[in-house]
Amino acid sequence: MKNITILGATGSIGDSTLSVISLHPDKFNVFALSAHRNWQKMQLLCAKFQPNIVVMSDETAAEKLANTINSDIQVLSGAQALNTIAAHDKTDYVMAAIVGSAGMASSLAAAKAGKRVMLANKESLVLAGNLFMQVVHDNNAELIPVDSEHSAIFQCLQSGKVGLNKIQLTASGGPFLHTPIEKLHTVTPSEACAHPNWSMGNKISVDSATMMNKGLEVIEAHYLFDLPAEKIDVVIHPQSFIHSSVYYKDGAIISQLGVPDMRAVISYAMSYPDRIISGVAPLDLANNSPLEFYTPNLDKFACLRLAFDALKQGGNAMGTLNAANEIAVEYFLNNQIAFLDIASIVERVLEVVQHNNIYSLEDAIINDQTARTATHKIVKQYV
Ligand SMILES: NC(=O)c1ccc[n+]([C@@H]2O[C@H](COP(=O)([O-])OP(=O)(O)OC[C@H]3O[C@@H](n4cnc5c(N)ncnc54)[C@H](OP(=O)(O)O)[C@@H]3O)[C@@H](O)[C@H]2O)c1
Repeated sequence: MKNITILGATGSIGDSTLSVISLHPDKFNVFALSAHRNWQKMQLLCAKFQPNIVVMSDETAAEKLANTINSDIQVLSGAQALNTIAAHDKTDYVMAAIVGSAGMASSLAAAKAGKRVMLANKESLVLAGNLFMQVVHDNNAELIPVDSEHSAIFQCLQSGKVGLNKIQLTASGGPFLHTPIEKLHTVTPSEACAHPNWSMGNKISVDSATMMNKGLEVIEAHYLFDLPAEKIDVVIHPQSFIHSSVYYKDGAIISQLGVPDMRAVISYAMSYPDRIISGVAPLDLANNSPLEFYTPNLDKFACLRLAFDALKQGGNAMGTLNAANEIAVEYFLNNQIAFLDIASIVERVLEVVQHNNIYSLEDAIINDQTARTATHKIVKQYV
């Protein structure tokens, strides 16, 4: 029986993780859960899964929750409490599924404690990839990707990297794949969040529409698979059935296919190196043709270009890119800036924030704050 801690339990990845756990009560136990403010949903999760510990990072939400649930469940609050459940002696596996840079410290705490870290929070690698990988290595933590593309590459590379030419991440192209760039000035948050294939949180849905999500995934792949930017490629595949591919010197391509459903990715991370039922039906190839592929247009999807540039620049550039994007997306979701302003703002922030190296979590946090301050100033010129 493995004790699971889910950081970000009330989100989309949290839902899928709990759904897989429900299929295997003999293998997995919900030990601890976390959320930010959504205490009402956490109340329901507590009733159903009876965790030992719950963390609401917001103090008021923690108080409200504590007043409404079974007193056997310990309720903690604050960011430090996230680290406590991530590194807890009784935790075996940690699902790191907090959205944004807020998830970085607790992912790192899980790695430091030598846990199996099922990493959905890509920001942990984007903000402090070298540091994170070092901590994983030094503490014998197990790092299993929970992103469909990286899980696909991880699966394709099970026999090793010998003869590897490049990896290729697939991108759906999001809801605006066929929308001309001129029309992107006026698209709304709800149009941007209407992802054609995946059901996800709002922030990552906007990132899919701008293709910043793919850019962050390129950075994530660089650290996870220890490959330079030149060996990481992106292809648009609107059906999202091929989750990603690896290319070998002899011309062979190995791809991983499946229905786009995160439960398959999560069940693999939970059962690796075994496989267990995920609740996802197999892909019916004969009834799902044809499969299409396109090269991404880096003028239209400028965020993808900016992410490649930041990766090549190294150091704090990736954290700066991420912070600027998080804020710009928030403004877009609040209808305060236009969709195309997101890339423009990120580009300007990358120009103004000084280039540095990241040696510690504190460096990453300071850079994140500096980039946020710079973004808030620049955003004012757009609202
Ligand atoms: N969804 C996907 O299919 C998918 C696929 C691959 C990777 N990912 C990655 O997985 C992560 C989670 O994505 P998601 O789609 O599940 O996001 P989501 O639905 O927005 O859920 C986010 C979770 O994080 C919590 N949270 C938000 N802000 C927080 C803060 N400041 N401190 C602590 N907790 C906070 C939320 O709690 P409240 O509910 O209380 O706000 C919620 O539990 C992201 O990094 C995303 O890029 C997602």
